[in-house]
Amino acid sequence: MRRIGILTSGGDCQSLNATMRGVAKSLYKMFDDIEIVGFEDGYKGLIYADYRIMKQSDFSGILTRGGTILGTSRQPFKLMRTPDENGLDKVEAMKHTYYKLKLECLVILGGNGSQKTANLLREEGLNIVSLPKTIDNDLWGSDLTFGFHSAVDVATNAIDCIHTTAASHGRVFIVEIMGHKVGWLALYAGIAGGADIILLPEIPYDIDVVVNAIRTRSKNGKNFTILAVAEGAISKEDAALSKKELKEKKKNGPVYPSVAYELGAQISEKTGQEIRVTVPGHMQRGGEPSPYDRVIATRLGAEAAELIRRGEYGYMVALNNDKIEKIPLADIAGKLKMVDPQSDIIREAKSVGISFGDN
Ligand code: F6P
Repeated sequence: MRRIGILTSGGDCQSLNATMRGVAKSLYKMFDDIEIVGFEDGYKGLIYADYRIMKQSDFSGILTRGGTILGTSRQPFKLMRTPDENGLDKVEAMKHTYYKLKLECLVILGGNGSQKTANLLREEGLNIVSLPKTIDNDLWGSDLTFGFHSAVDVATNAIDCIHTTAASHGRVFIVEIMGHKVGWLALYAGIAGGADIILLPEIPYDIDVVVNAIRTRSKNGKNFTILAVAEGAISKEDAALSKKELKEKKKNGPVYPSVAYELGAQISEKTGQEIRVTVPGHMQRGGEPSPYDRVIATRLGAEAAELIRRGEYGYMVALNNDKIEKIPLADIAGKLKMVDPQSDIIREAKSVGISFGDN
């Protein structure tokens, strides 16, 4: 009997189930003697031995279902070496569960923090295969992460809806888009939704340039402007401050719920125009996976099973140049993939007139 563990960790996304289905269906086809153990709520289930033995039928009918049938939770990597409130050593507890269940391998579907913990478990001697999950698309080593394209669809749809109302009202609309510390989601949804201004963490903005872009549109007879703003967008002044200085500035300045509201206040003050802010928030992680996501989820999942068949452990399965490949966890854990301000996509977006608030 081969026993494989599986868990989904961190923020959810639309194609977690589709990816698990890819892993499981391939494993059941490869081996007659396979048993899959599903851990509840991510690493929490591994730490506290909260698991269930999965049936083949658990993985049927879930290709199109958002969320995760196993549940998920955030277990910060930086606290993994800190004992829990009862003094439990979490890393030892995870190893204990793994060995007690006689797992041959653990399959981990997760984003940045989860990949770091996956690598830690690899260093501790466990057999690990990981898969690149996140709507943020910020994992080093993979061109794409599953969940990203579905979130682009939702965020684009939000901008599309704003477009029709913006045109009717002649206002400035700011749509704040998730993405944590990177701007992939705002960049793709912004281009796809025809945003006039896109602000990303990787390209700190100058508020006067942003205001100028809005004024230029007005002068050219465009009565509305749409800004797609990444939740991590930052001004040039703030980007030049140290973490400590920025914290101090925020403590002493006006308090805004998020960057979109701060920008809105600044633009309104400088232009006197009416501003509306829309934050689609967690909608961007919800609903059905897009067809494209379902395809890459299936491919990535099938390849994870293939690595298990070959006994190749310590890798994250990745998609690069439309090829599925394995990347050593040690090479990618803890590294962020950011938008390159000099990349073709930024140049092309600028060439169709999109302002990034930088010049
Ligand atoms: O990593 C995915 C993500 O949705 C980010 O884009 C966002 O910053 C964060 O998770 C929100 O986290 P939570 O669901 O814990 O509020």
